[in-house]
Amino acid sequence: MRIQMFVGLFLFLRLVSAVAVYTLEEVQDQIESYRQQNTNGLTSRSVPLGCWLLCGFLGFTLPNQLAYPNTTIYEFEESRYWSQQQALTNPACRFSPTSPAQVSLAVLGSRVTQCKFAVKSGGHAAFAGASNIDGGLTIDLRNLNEITLSADKTQTSVGPGNVWYDVYSKLERENLTVIGGRVSAIGVGGLTLGGGISFFSSRYGWACDNVNAYEVVFADGSINSVTPSSYPDLYWALRGGGNNFGIVTRFDLATYPQGDLWAGSQTFLYNNQTALQINNAFYYLGINAPSDPYAQVILAYAYAQTEGVYVIASDLQYGKPEPNPPILQNFTSVPGAVADTLRIATLTNLTEEFNNTNPGGFRQTYWTFTVGNDVSLMTKMIDIYMDEVDKVKDAAGIVPSTIFQLITTDMTSHFTRNGGNALGLAGQGPLNLVNIDISWSKESDDKRIIAAAQNIVNRSVAAAKAEGLFNEYLYQNYAALQQDVLPSYGATNYAKLKAVSKKYDPSGVWQKLQPGYFKL
Ligand SMILES: Cc1cc2nc3c(=O)[nH]c(=O)nc-3n(C[C@H](O)[C@H](O)[C@H](O)COP(=O)(O)OP(=O)(O)OC[C@H]3O[C@@H](n4cnc5c(N)ncnc54)[C@H](O)[C@@H]3O)c2cc1C
Ligand SMILES: *[C@@H]1O[C@H](CO)[C@@H](O)[C@H](O)[C@H]1NC(C)=O
Ligand SMILES: *[C@@H]1O[C@H](CO)[C@@H](O)[C@H](O)[C@H]1NC(C)=O
Ligand SMILES: *[C@@H]1O[C@H](CO)[C@@H](O)[C@H](O)[C@H]1NC(C)=O
Ligand SMILES: *[C@@H]1O[C@H](CO)[C@@H](O)[C@H](O)[C@H]1NC(C)=O
Ligand SMILES: *[C@@H]1O[C@H](CO)[C@@H](O)[C@H](O)[C@H]1NC(C)=O
Ligand SMILES: *[C@@H]1O[C@H](CO)[C@@H](O)[C@H](O)[C@H]1NC(C)=O
Ligand SMILES: *[C@@H]1O[C@H](CO)[C@@H](O)[C@H](O)[C@H]1NC(C)=O
Repeated sequence: MRIQMFVGLFLFLRLVSAVAVYTLEEVQDQIESYRQQNTNGLTSRSVPLGCWLLCGFLGFTLPNQLAYPNTTIYEFEESRYWSQQQALTNPACRFSPTSPAQVSLAVLGSRVTQCKFAVKSGGHAAFAGASNIDGGLTIDLRNLNEITLSADKTQTSVGPGNVWYDVYSKLERENLTVIGGRVSAIGVGGLTLGGGISFFSSRYGWACDNVNAYEVVFADGSINSVTPSSYPDLYWALRGGGNNFGIVTRFDLATYPQGDLWAGSQTFLYNNQTALQINNAFYYLGINAPSDPYAQVILAYAYAQTEGVYVIASDLQYGKPEPNPPILQNFTSVPGAVADTLRIATLTNLTEEFNNTNPGGFRQTYWTFTVGNDVSLMTKMIDIYMDEVDKVKDAAGIVPSTIFQLITTDMTSHFTRNGGNALGLAGQGPLNLVNIDISWSKESDDKRIIAAAQNIVNRSVAAAKAEGLFNEYLYQNYAALQQDVLPSYGATNYAKLKAVSKKYDPSGVWQKLQPGYFKL
């Protein structure tokens, strides 16, 4: 009892101080005290000893922040993952810190106990283990949900507990925005650390190019502001390096004036003539984009199982409230749309529309690859996609799509900002970024559907290579775990990322204790 009071006092003193930083030794002592007082659970535990200890210690010191299986909070948080694979992953406990100091405590606690952990922001990564962990500690950042606009309205400080809807809806009242995701329910954390394609990226670059500063918990538990001047190498690595360099507890985002958009989707029944016209429009947009960087397009081919037909959806966006601008007229002049949601809309309304067409709760797989901008290659890739989907299209609830997006030269011109990002694409383009995205209902179909997705990738990559149109780059936010993302940034960048990791995290905490997602 006396020791428990001592533990409580120690933490209280630290948590009331805003810059609280623990040392590894202090946390080790506290956990050892806790262990000596709680030997009774050791024989009945069903989780690894380290996690039993860490969950117990965190729950003892911060009872409101810790949830065990079969409690309302735990089950609710589990239900908030987008993919079923992540929602069905069961951590020993879930910890929801309310401050960077509490995040630091969890990281040092993991080092002491060797309990492995995962970190969740918006929970939209598709594969199991990305932001949840069987038998380990899941750190759910949902309470770090600050959104603060600076007095001069040029910067918004955003906690990773927010999804983009929260941020956009707040800034929209001021006719302002930040560079973030296009679906309302995506998290600020994962999207920004992997790159982050926004509706406005031809004007401003990707989300990562628009982070002025990161507040980061390092592997030694210290809490630091990472800017181009304070830690230039780490600042560079955080722009594309994913979860390999620390836990980001705040993003300071460049903020821009922005009003309504003209945007929406046009849907067509697939036939090869319509496809050819739309693919041509896409190709020419790649060529002509620099003449009007307000335009962007997401071009999706999908199979509608209920109707038994392939469809084409052109999602068009123009960053001003001007209907049918010339830059997009090669798309809008294609005849035969069977559905059309093009309109003047607010950003939040548009991201809600896309959220509705990407519902959670299903089994999911995401894959990616990058090729040159070329119409005949697009035709080949669509043929490959349909050939593979035909083999699995009977699977219950399947929604298989292949999605083309341009990485424009305007986007990559911003990739050199503040010393450049880690993606290895600066100055390249236009490129066609391909995303294979399949959702379905039954686990028993996992194997054949994932094989089909991988076949689409392999065969398309082979077709691109045959035409000299293959690009090594893999977009982290769309990649499957089987894809080796970080080496795809190029040998120089990969070596530099490894060196930065060694410098700030010599024992490899972010890789060894946090095994999920794309590792260096
Ligand atoms: C429906 C849908 C729409 C999408 N639309 C877009 C889009 O418009 N543009 C785009 O670029 N991408 C898009 N994506 C891809 C998206 O960017 C990735 O899925 C991204 O990983 C989601 O981030 P999250 O925070 O929601 O995910 P999470 O699963 O919570 O996190 C993903 C990874 O990042 C790590 N991480 C998260 N926050 C932190 C942090 N603060 N510190 C350290 N590590 C952290 C997690 O540990 C995890 O490994 C979309 C995905 C889906 C499913
Ligand atoms: C949670 O409840 C289920 C069903 O009631 C039970 O099978 C399971 O063992 C419980 N899990 C834990 C960790 O207590
Ligand atoms: C935002 O823009 C609209 C349309 O231009 C204008 O009516 C409104 O007053 C603006 N709001 C603010 C807070 O500036
Ligand atoms: C379109 O499909 C038809 C019928 O299958 C075929 O004859 C024709 O060659 C195709 N055209 C193109 C441009 O692929
Ligand atoms: C539209 O397509 C034509 C070719 O059909 C092309 O010459 C033109 O540049 C395209 N315009 C735009 C704005 O992409
Ligand atoms: C977008 O706004 C329109 C008009 O206000 C509304 O009818 C529609 O339901 C909104 N859509 C979404 C997805 O919020
Ligand atoms: C997104 O859609 C899901 C349903 O799939 C819903 O539960 C959630 O509230 C939506 N989120 C936002 C921010 O719109
Ligand atoms: C696809 O290619 C990868 C890497 O070349 C290989 O490991 C994998 O087995 C291939 N998968 C299929 C389904 O052909």
